[in-house]
Amino acid sequence: MYKAMNVLLIWVCGLATSAVLAKQTFHGDKVFRVKLQTEEHVALIHKMKEKIKLDFWHPDTADRMVPHMDADFRVNSDQAHSVSILLEQFSVPYEVLFHDLQEGIDAQLDNKKIQKSKGHSYTKYNTWEKIVEWTGNLAKKYPNLVKKVDIGKTVEGRPMYVLQVGNANSATKAIFMDCGIHAREWISPAFCQWFVKELIKGKNNIRELVKSLTFYILPVFNIDGYVWTWTEDRMWRKNRSPSDDGNCVGTDLNRNFNISWCDIGSSTEPCSEIYCGATAESEIEAKNVANFIRSHVDSIKAYISIHSYSQMLLYPFSYTYNLAPDHKELDEIAKGAVSELKGLYGTSYTYGPSASTIYPTAGSSDDWAYSVGIKYSFTFELRDKGKKGFLLPQSQIKATCQESTLAVAYIAKYVLAHSS
Ligand SMILES: *[C@@H]1O[C@H](CO)[C@@H](O)[C@H](O)[C@H]1NC(C)=O
Ligand SMILES: [Zn+2]
Repeated sequence: MYKAMNVLLIWVCGLATSAVLAKQTFHGDKVFRVKLQTEEHVALIHKMKEKIKLDFWHPDTADRMVPHMDADFRVNSDQAHSVSILLEQFSVPYEVLFHDLQEGIDAQLDNKKIQKSKGHSYTKYNTWEKIVEWTGNLAKKYPNLVKKVDIGKTVEGRPMYVLQVGNANSATKAIFMDCGIHAREWISPAFCQWFVKELIKGKNNIRELVKSLTFYILPVFNIDGYVWTWTEDRMWRKNRSPSDDGNCVGTDLNRNFNISWCDIGSSTEPCSEIYCGATAESEIEAKNVANFIRSHVDSIKAYISIHSYSQMLLYPFSYTYNLAPDHKELDEIAKGAVSELKGLYGTSYTYGPSASTIYPTAGSSDDWAYSVGIKYSFTFELRDKGKKGFLLPQSQIKATCQESTLAVAYIAKYVLAHSS
């Protein structure tokens, strides 16, 4: 009996560990795009989410859903059938973006030749280890142009490096840009790496920006979450800090900034994907970034945050529908930037204030930066519009980064010419 208990215990423990350690797969999981037409359709989604685990891709919570909006969400394989039956019963038009999400995950790494190359590459998704190595190599190779600034550690103890790019002695104005605040948006860190490359060895008109501007670039904001998407759960979004009650992991770092904190578009529920944290800046990653920006606020003239997906260029406010005092100017800049972007491959972006263009959210980094006096505050939602969503294939990294570089450079040139 005693022995049997022991065996059972070992078996149960083994099961528990393997469940924790095994990388999650998504065979048969589906991503739906529903075309909400009526309040009843919206109500149905709310009802469904009480019974069925829905992972909202866009918008990032059911609370933001309204009639005449497309909503994308993921459903586990065992519940996908029930969801499609419910949608049909209630006559909600829908399409299935992914019939088998695991296939989509595998298909991301579609340019196999590059994928096989062991080192860092600008045209593939790099692991965190590769990115760290890359930051170190750049700082060594270009000592007069690139500095690696340690701004603090993540909750799991990984160092957060900002790359300072510029000929520091002549440049007094700076631009801060971060990527990867949401872990699963892989194209975002890829863009920050690409943009650093452009500043160092791109075309003349981009390279010359570093003579008069300092760029502070944080290639991965949510490092622990990013690592988690590589090792455990590709669909992870938040950081990796355990909640106070120990029942859930992760705060949405883009709800944790000190601006109308935990108000609209946020949740106080630690298990929620849009959990705002215990207090404003409760998360060490958000605090490190906020501290860095606060200590350089006199020189930082623009704040740029890179997300995916939906092809949008957004500016304040997020937390209210009220127009920002600088609305007109920001709108003009956004218009110019998306037109530059479109010029390369014809990719069209919408633009406007976050709240009305995408959906309202409180505690976001762009509003906070604006509130501390950084007038030129922008958020990009990169490719695509949902066909691949967070699983943008590697073969699109180059084009996505090339076109987005033009938009960011447009903003940088404007800021250089117009900020005091
Ligand atoms: C947030 O901002 C308010 C108002 O500026 C300030 O009083 C408060 O101390 C700040 N909180 C944190 C955590 O920084
Ligand atoms: Zn995001």
